[in-house]
Amino acid sequence: MQNSCPIDPEDLPSNTSANEHFQDVVERAYSRRGFLKSGIGLSAALFLSGPISAYGAATGKSPQPGTAGLLGFQAIPISTDDTIKIAPGYTATVFAPWGTPLFKGDPAWKADGSDNAAAQARQVGDNHDGIHFFAIEGSSTEGLLVMNHEYATVKKGEYTWLFGADRTGPLTVDKVHKAIHAHGVSVIHIVRTNGGTWEIKLDSPYNRRITAATPMELTGPAAGDPLLRTKADASGKQVLGTFNNCGNGWTPWNTYLACEENFNNYFGTLSGEDTRNAAQKRYGISAKGSAFRWEEFEERYDYVKEPNEANRHGWIVEIDPFDPASTPRKRTALGRFKHENAAYALAADGRVVIYMGDDQRNDYIYKFVSDNTYRKGGDNSSLLDAGRLYVARFDDGDTADDFMGTGQWILLDKSDNPTLSADTSFTSQAEVLIHARLAADAVGATKMDRPEWVSVHPATGEVYVTLTNNNKRTTPDAVNPRANNIYGQIVRWREADSDAAATRFEWDIFVLAGNPIKHTDRNDLASGSANITADNTFNSPDGLAFDSHGRLWIQTDGKYSNSGDYEGQGNNQMLCADPVSKEIRRFLTGPKECEVTGIAFTPDSKTLFINIQHPGEAGDSHWPDGGTAIPRSATVIITKDDGGVIGT
Ligand code: FEO
Ligand code: CA
Ligand code: CA
Ligand code: CA
Repeated sequence: MQNSCPIDPEDLPSNTSANEHFQDVVERAYSRRGFLKSGIGLSAALFLSGPISAYGAATGKSPQPGTAGLLGFQAIPISTDDTIKIAPGYTATVFAPWGTPLFKGDPAWKADGSDNAAAQARQVGDNHDGIHFFAIEGSSTEGLLVMNHEYATVKKGEYTWLFGADRTGPLTVDKVHKAIHAHGVSVIHIVRTNGGTWEIKLDSPYNRRITAATPMELTGPAAGDPLLRTKADASGKQVLGTFNNCGNGWTPWNTYLACEENFNNYFGTLSGEDTRNAAQKRYGISAKGSAFRWEEFEERYDYVKEPNEANRHGWIVEIDPFDPASTPRKRTALGRFKHENAAYALAADGRVVIYMGDDQRNDYIYKFVSDNTYRKGGDNSSLLDAGRLYVARFDDGDTADDFMGTGQWILLDKSDNPTLSADTSFTSQAEVLIHARLAADAVGATKMDRPEWVSVHPATGEVYVTLTNNNKRTTPDAVNPRANNIYGQIVRWREADSDAAATRFEWDIFVLAGNPIKHTDRNDLASGSANITADNTFNSPDGLAFDSHGRLWIQTDGKYSNSGDYEGQGNNQMLCADPVSKEIRRFLTGPKECEVTGIAFTPDSKTLFINIQHPGEAGDSHWPDGGTAIPRSATVIITKDDGGVIGT
C-alpha cells in the first residue's frame, strides 16, 4: 500500500503555491533577527548566509489581533474551568479516551475503572502524549493515528485513577500487568464519515497495542553489548517493552518514533542496598523503590537483581504502523537518555538528521546524522542504525546582551573525538551511546533548561526547541538567561549553510515566556520577551510543532495554580506563533490539572489531533465524561467550522 506523510520535503517543490509561500517565508526568515530586550548585537548576524534587514527589528510591540499573516484566528482568554475552550469558529471533539476498545466485539470500557490487565491490553492506553497521523494513500479522511501512552498517574506509590475505586487496595500482579499494558503505543485505524465525524475502524488489521511487555529488538552499534545483556537475554538484543514514551517523531518512510523518557522511574530495589554506580545515578535510578512499583512483581525492574535491564530503556523506538506483525526496534545509534521527541530533517546531501532533547534540568540537545542517504521509495529500514551522534554547545558569540549567539555540534565518537578517545571510562563506542549523558558531560556540552520538543520549520530548516523551565539553574548563560527559570523559553537555531548536517550554527531566543501580569517591569526578564503580553502569557512550553504552512504550535505542561508567579495564566494551553513576526496567540485551553500535548495534522491541514494528558492529576477533574466520572486522558480532534485550514 502506498502511503504518504503530511510533510514530505521531497513533495514540496512540486507544490507551486506552497512553494511561493515558502519562498516568502525563507526570505523573511533570513532577515528575521529581532531583538528581545534592549540589546542590539548584530555580531551573530555575521554567521547568516543571507542579507540582514530591519524586518521586525526591536519594535518591542506585539502585533494586534487580526493582523494579516499566518494567524487568522481570534485569540482566547485563559480558563480555569474543567473543559476545553477553543478559538471562535473551531470545534473540539473528544476521541479515543483511555480504555476505548480497539478490536471488534470487545466489551465497552468499565466506567468504574475495574477493567483487568487482559482488557487493558486491547484498549487505548493511558496518559496520551505524542501523536501522528499516517495518511493512507494520501487521504485526509482515512489513516493510522499512532500515539504514545506515557504513563499512568501515580502519587506516593498509589495509582490515582488506573484501578478506579480500588486505588487504595493492595497492589497485585494483575494490577501491575494492567499498568504495564496501559503504557506504550496505540495504532488506531480511523476514518472520517460522510457526516464529518471520525470513527475507529474496529475490524482493521492495523489496530495494534504495543505495551511495556511487547517483544522488541535492540539494533545499531550498541546492540549485543555486554551492558545490554541480562539473565533473560544473553544476546543483549531482545527486550520486552517500551514505556514512558513522551514526545514522538516520524520519518518520511512512514515509520513512527516513540521516545523513551523517564525510564528511570520504573527501576528500584527491594534489597535495602544501594549498589548504584555513577552511570545509574546520573540517569536517576532510585536507590529504593520505584514510583511505579513494578519491581515488586517482576525481577527485571529490580536493578540489584538485574543491573543491565535499565540500560535497555531510554532509547528511540522505530515502529512500522503499516505492518502490524513488525517488531519495534530500539535504535541505539541515536543515544540513550531521557528522550523527549525526535524531529526529522534532511541534510543537503540526503542524509537523515534527527534532533532530540534530553528532558532533565541541565541536560542536553543532541542530533543524529545518518551515514547513508534517504531514498524515496527505497529500503530505509536500517538508516537509523548507522550514523554520528552530536551534542550541542551554545556559545554567547560576543559580549552583547542580545539573546543570540553561535554554536557547535560536538561529535560523540570514541575514535573521532580526542576527549572521548583519551577517556578510559568509555571502553567502546557502544558505551558512549549507552551512557550518552556521561559522554556529553565529558565534552563540555551546554546544560540547558530542560529540553522538551524540537521542531524543524518545513521551509527554512530552522530548528526550534522548547526549554520548559529549570528551577535548578543557579548561573544564567546566554541561551538560558535566567536563574531559577520558572517560565521557560523557546530557542531556535539555523545550521551553517542551512544544512542540517552542519557542525556549526547560530541561535537566538524566539520567546522568553514570562508573566507581565505578575512582573510588570518589562525590563525584568520574568515579565517575558516583548512578544509576551498579558493576553498570551503562559509558562512551561513543552509540545512544539510546525504545521506544513509554517505556523508554530506551542503546548504547555506547567503550573496551573493561576496564582502567585502563575497569576493570570490559567490551565495548560495551546498557542500558535508566527515565526517571522513572533506574534503568539492563545488557541485553546485544557481542562483542570491537565497537560496539553501532541500535535498531528491530516495532509490537508484541516483536521488537527492533539492530546489532553492527565486531567485531574491532583484529583479535581471529571473531564471528559463529566458528572462524577473518573477523568480520562483523551485525544481531541479539532476542525474549523467552515471546513478551512486550522489556524486561519
Ligand atoms: Fe514527558 Fe518531557 O515531558
Ligand atoms: Ca550573544
Ligand atoms: Ca513532554
Ligand atoms: Ca511533560
